[in-house]
Amino acid sequence: MVDPFGRAITYLRVSVTDRCDFRCVYCMAEDMTFLPKKDLLTIEELERLCMAFIAKGVRKIRITGGEPLVRRNIMTLFQALGRQVGAGLDELTVTTNGSQLERFAQPLYDAGVRRINVSLDTLDRAKFKAITRWGELGKVMAGIDAAQKAGLQIKINAVALKGVNEAELPEMIRWAHGQGMDMTLIETMPMGDIDGDRTDQYLPLSLVRARLAELFTLEESAYRTGGPARYMRVAETGGRLGFITPLTHNFCESCNRVRVTCTGTLFMCLGQEDAADLRAPLRASEGNELLDKAIEEAISRKPKGHDFVIDRRTSRPGVKRHMSVTGG
Ligand code: GTP
Ligand code: 5AD
Ligand code: SF4
Repeated sequence: MVDPFGRAITYLRVSVTDRCDFRCVYCMAEDMTFLPKKDLLTIEELERLCMAFIAKGVRKIRITGGEPLVRRNIMTLFQALGRQVGAGLDELTVTTNGSQLERFAQPLYDAGVRRINVSLDTLDRAKFKAITRWGELGKVMAGIDAAQKAGLQIKINAVALKGVNEAELPEMIRWAHGQGMDMTLIETMPMGDIDGDRTDQYLPLSLVRARLAELFTLEESAYRTGGPARYMRVAETGGRLGFITPLTHNFCESCNRVRVTCTGTLFMCLGQEDAADLRAPLRASEGNELLDKAIEEAISRKPKGHDFVIDRRTSRPGVKRHMSVTGG
């Protein structure tokens, strides 16, 4: 699949639930409402959808949420897709908040997952509670531990938050690299309503990077995962540090991905509202003809990129839906 801007679409992000057992302050309001459960695709339908994308050239699938590991019977989907690794798929992976990892790390490995991304914004117990509202740091740490024991390669994702984890980022980098994990910093994106003002949380990574360059020797790195991060090597730790900078340095020209929600809606760009319904064509017949057509039509109108801005004067969410609907 090639979009109108010549970009090959090889990466599918699949949000298997928009629900989450945390309520991160930059992600959602505490009284968040979720999609009606009756609209959910079944695990079998999600599998069929993924297989249709694999047949169309997708080589990497990332399972996301909400929190993907709270979806019932989710291992059935990992097991089914895991059989494609090394055949139709180069990589099957997951982005998780880590709360359920202690239980799922080994089954994920056994299903064929080799690398996972764990969202963790602080190592401080009280701050963790303040950011996630409902989360418990100890559980996530136990999950990371279990994932390492299971042999999963881990990347820690931290959203950089002004005045919250800002001062702690060097320590987090040393910790992650010390444990043999990659670390990626993310700029908060204006998606959906939250309780606070996003402008207060926003920390440009251009600034963070300049500060880190005073503490560490940051070397250019050619390492790529096929995701949006651009990596540096930290000479002092020997570890990799990624930067995801939708606000300060847009990376849309090399976009290779689309995302599908748990109700079968395909979003061609994270930062745009335009979407295509795949549930109706999926359910219309057992064959994939209508589904394939709907996917092709959607790819043919993938937008050039997002136009996120975070600015007090235009203080508005760039898109109305929350990050948890598409899992990023
Ligand atoms: P790797 O395979 O390790 O590169 O993972 P990834 O960065 O592709 O996925 P992950 O789920 O770890 O996403 C990290 C952050 O990148 C999340 O906040 C996503 O929302 C964000 N992200 C992923 N794709 C895009 C994109 O196309 N545009 C924007 N603006 N952000 C994205
Ligand atoms: N901006 C940037 N990242 C976000 N995440 C959730 N909401 C936002 C947002 N508004 C992050 C999570 C997780 C990843 C899937 O997206 O922390 O790491
Ligand atoms: Fe849940 Fe992830 Fe959103 Fe936090 S960022 S509330 S862990 S979906």
